[in-house]
Amino acid sequence: MAKRMSRSAINFSLDLGAFVVLLATLWTRLVTFWIVPPPAEGKSGLALWGMNHKAWDAVNFWVTMAFAVVILVHLILHWTWISQFVHQRVKRRSKSVAVLDSGTQTVYGVGFMIVVFVVVGGLLAVAAVAAKPF
Ligand code: HEM
Repeated sequence: MAKRMSRSAINFSLDLGAFVVLLATLWTRLVTFWIVPPPAEGKSGLALWGMNHKAWDAVNFWVTMAFAVVILVHLILHWTWISQFVHQRVKRRSKSVAVLDSGTQTVYGVGFMIVVFVVVGGLLAVAAVAAKPF
């Protein structure tokens, strides 16, 4: 029977994965910007390992999306830590004696995700409306 991974082993694997994806994001961005820049008008430009600027740009886009997903999962796995930290701070300031049960943590977690998607989606909608041909 397969042995279940401990919570620390899951966190460590994900953190290592996040670090590798961060390096891949940085590296593909630098390649797209410096090594295989957009070709000048009328020129064919450079290619690295058979991929031109456009292809590297697409790779960088999807690696960046993967990084966003990994960070969201990282935040979900540390949600107890984050919500307890915020709860303690608010409690200290307001001198409240409220307890933070796991149901409330989940509600705040779902609320946080909704806020993230509304802010990112909202700013994208603003950008879509503001973009004009030139
Ligand atoms: C490449 C990016 C990142 C890497 C490699 C990374 C790595 C780590 C590591 C090694 C830990 C401690 C071990 C663990 O409990 O998992 C940790 C904890 C944590 N990380 Fe990240 N992290 C990254 C990005 C982020 C980002 C962007 C945020 C917040 C927006 C974040 C929030 C946290 C929190 C809240 C904890 C728990 C703090 C604690 O237990 O003291 N991390 N991270």
